[in-house]
Parts: sequence; structure tokens; C-alpha cells
Amino acid sequence: MTIANEDLINAATEARRNAYNRYSNYSVGAALVDDQGHLHVGCNVENAAYPLGSCAEAGAIAAMVQQGGKHIVKIAVVGGSGNIGPCTPCGGCRQRINEFAADNTVILAIDDSGKWQEFSIKDLLPASFHLY
Ligand code: THU
Repeated sequence: MTIANEDLINAATEARRNAYNRYSNYSVGAALVDDQGHLHVGCNVENAAYPLGSCAEAGAIAAMVQQGGKHIVKIAVVGGSGNIGPCTPCGGCRQRINEFAADNTVILAIDDSGKWQEFSIKDLLPASFHLY
């Protein structure tokens, strides 16, 4: 089963509506399709103790792992607006995605206006850290 980009972006946009962002007021939604063709979503969840906040990608990846997914086939991240541009995964999330990515994993970053960019994990995290 494949999930169209549009459906993945719609799922990320829907997840973004639930972002808990009272400190930054910056909403992010993520949706990924795994090796089983299953969809997993996440949103950013902030905390009064700022470093405890978690990114949308982290939520979606945790859901994938909990449900038995092994690899990310495609992930869409929706956030950011016109001036700032699409929310590309932060450094930590690049490493998180890398853990479950393959060379052909597709990473889509989409902003409010629907403007999007496509990356591979090698684009975002060259010379990445691996233990295996
Ligand atoms: N954020 C994400 O959810 N994903 C990213 O890749 C970048 C940043 C969130 C974290 C925080 O809640 C807000 O965006 C502002 O940094």
C-alpha cells in the first residue's frame, strides 16, 4: 500500500492542529508512512521546563516503533509560514529520522502556504553518526 504525498501532508496538517505550543506558539505536525504502509502522526508537545518539549517528528517515530514499524518510507513535516519558510527537521530530529531511514527515504517539509521542499536523509544529515 502506498500513501500519496497529499494524504501524508493532510495527515500532518491535521496532527499539527493539536500542537501543544504555548511557549513558542510555533505549531508542527508530522506524518510518516512505514515499511508496512502504516501511517503514524505526531505534533510538538512543549513543557514549562523547556528542554522537555518534544518535536512532532519524535512523536510520529515513537508511535511507529510502538506499533511495530521498522523503517520510515516517507515523512512529511508541516510547520512554518511565508517569511520563515517550511519547518525542516531540527538537528535532533535529523538524527532520529536517520535511525529509521534508508537512502531512499523521502522527507517533505511543507509550510502554511503549501510550499514544500523534498530531501533525502543524506541531504539533511551527511556523514551521520552510526553505531552499526
Ligand atoms: N519543532 C518540531 O516539532 N520539529 C522540528 O523539527 C523543529 C522544531 C518544534 C519544537 C518546538 O515546540 C517548536 O517547534 C519551536 O521550536
